[in-house]
Amino acid sequence: MFKKTPVAASLVAAASLLLITGGCSATNTGKTAEAKPAAAVPAKVDYTKMTPAALAEYLVLESDGFDLKQPTQEGTTGRHRLTQDEIQKACSLGKGKEVDDKTREKVMALAAASIKYPEGGIKLGDWKKGRELAWSGYGFRTAHNPDDHVKGTPGGNCYNCHQLATDRTGGNIGPALTGYGARGTSPDMLKYTYDVIYNPHVYFACTNMPRMGAVGVLNQQQIADIMAYLLDPNSPVNKQ
Ligand code: HEC
Repeated sequence: MFKKTPVAASLVAAASLLLITGGCSATNTGKTAEAKPAAAVPAKVDYTKMTPAALAEYLVLESDGFDLKQPTQEGTTGRHRLTQDEIQKACSLGKGKEVDDKTREKVMALAAASIKYPEGGIKLGDWKKGRELAWSGYGFRTAHNPDDHVKGTPGGNCYNCHQLATDRTGGNIGPALTGYGARGTSPDMLKYTYDVIYNPHVYFACTNMPRMGAVGVLNQQQIADIMAYLLDPNSPVNKQ
């Protein structure tokens, strides 16, 4: 086993310092061709002429600064995570800008097309399993080493943004859903709830709420379980 002696440790520290200063001087001057051997930045790139958005995109996607090939738990790559899909592009508005009617319609149509329904129709699952999922903020992991990501199943993270049952503190980014079951379980209500969890942009274009079904964080059974947590009269959400 390799043990870190003080000497080895300071060598490592010196080496990383070299790397850091090397990287900084390249970034600051933009003169990379002679200062650094090829790899870092192609000589033709002139940061000073780029808009902040173009520079950000360049640094993330083109500069080789990130390991974009690293695998993600959902079976894609780092690059896929950082590349906007159609809904994200349409919703990336300037600060303070409202969604216009055309964008809203486009986003809602894209969202509607993304929703897949269970073969036997939408049914409520097990509210206890739904509660576990609503509590869990575990998300998809990337890279293999920081933790053993294959062991964790992503949850719904609902409490991060919503107050649901009052036995646990919830966030207020989204509206409180306490007593949600009072709305009943008509076919329309089941469809509305399923749709909102699967892809909320179908009702709330460019919302902050994640697309749990459309991006594969939750499967149909898990959505059914969370729906039971929201709608079952015996669920703590409806026992206040
Ligand atoms: C990142 C924050 C966030 C997370 C996480 C989140 N939501 Fe939401 N949710 C919202 C926001 C914001 C709205 C309001 C829609 C809007 O106007 O943008 C909303 C709306 C809703 C609505 C419709 C509200 C109503 O009164 O009809 C339901 C139902 C809902 N969320 C359920 C859930 C469930 C279940 C989960 C977990 C699987 C969840 N949300 C996770 C932010 C979030």
